[in-house]
Amino acid sequence: MGRAAVLTGIGSAVPDRVVTNDAFAARMDTSDEWIRSRTGIRERRLVEPGTATSDLAVLAGSRAMKSAGVADVDAVVLATTTPDHPCPATAPTVASRLGLGAVAAYDVAAVCSGFLYGLASAAGMIALGTAERVLVIAAEAFSTIIDPDDRATAPIFGDGAGAVVLAAGEQSQRGALLGFDLGSDGALADLIIVPAGGSRMKTGASPSDHFFTMRGQAVFKHAVLRMAESSRTVLARTGWPVDAVDWLVGHQANVRILRAVADQLGLPREKAFVNVERFGNTAAASIPIALDDAVAAGLVNPGDRVLLTAFGGGASWGAVTLEWPDPA
Ligand code: ACO
Repeated sequence: MGRAAVLTGIGSAVPDRVVTNDAFAARMDTSDEWIRSRTGIRERRLVEPGTATSDLAVLAGSRAMKSAGVADVDAVVLATTTPDHPCPATAPTVASRLGLGAVAAYDVAAVCSGFLYGLASAAGMIALGTAERVLVIAAEAFSTIIDPDDRATAPIFGDGAGAVVLAAGEQSQRGALLGFDLGSDGALADLIIVPAGGSRMKTGASPSDHFFTMRGQAVFKHAVLRMAESSRTVLARTGWPVDAVDWLVGHQANVRILRAVADQLGLPREKAFVNVERFGNTAAASIPIALDDAVAAGLVNPGDRVLLTAFGGGASWGAVTLEWPDPA
């Protein structure tokens, strides 16, 4: 690895509209008790009709740049499952609306693992010398692909965006991304899928073909297994024993998954940061939203050793390590 990618700023943005579990219980056969006990979720933020992924991405991106104390970057990488349009990518729109000029801008599609794939991609550009500074955003208007009447998915997901600025620096600096592990298994592609709208099936036989479906139990098992495995791999690459980790900031899919990953790693459960209760599963956006939330709450502090890990559609997964940086 050449030059290190150093995290120098972070920001997030969620829609104002809070939707409680009771709002779902009022319109479908579910309950606050079921949703809380199975997922840990109490409420989530959902966009109003007309709000798109880029709207959230611009807000989170500008907050991350402000936190980093910078007015420009050389590239924008946007991880999303819900681009504004099937074509073109959403990142150039975001870059333009942020006033960043003619910078490189592209989307990364790895569903809930997208932020970690985005970090790796941005770190690669920095290592190559293609960019000095990259804005990595993960943003989702996830509710736009959810069937609002499907109790198996509608209460689980939320909308939001998180972003970080990565800058060229030294591996020894706080904030340097230290280790990466990424993986996928396309044989599991049908566990999490929107069947129609792509080149395989342009228009579905029924409207439900255009909505997100998930085989929850199978996803649960693979998520725990792969997040734990990927975490072990990245810890070994970083040279950290498990007990060196101060915070596990995992993809906020389900509090039971986060606890199970901590248990499998032999990490005390209180080291697994959880905010799924307030935001639901925001897919690619969940890790940067959680990180920003944990820092704002005074939990993650400069010098803390942080382990990020995610599992999502594809199937795809990953893990990244870093020591939390000093504020800009
Ligand atoms: N309210 C009430 N009952 C429900 C609801 C609901 N909202 N949803 C499902 N049920 C019912 C089911 O129909 C089933 O009923 P049955 O026993 O009569 O068949 C029962 O509850 C149990 O369903 P399970 O799916 O077995 O419930 P489980 O405990 O597995 O929880 C959940 C479901 C929350 C989806 C869980 O499996 C999970 O979190 N999976 C992982 C999700 C995940 O990690 N996603 C990350 C990737 S997502 C991405 O990449 C975009």
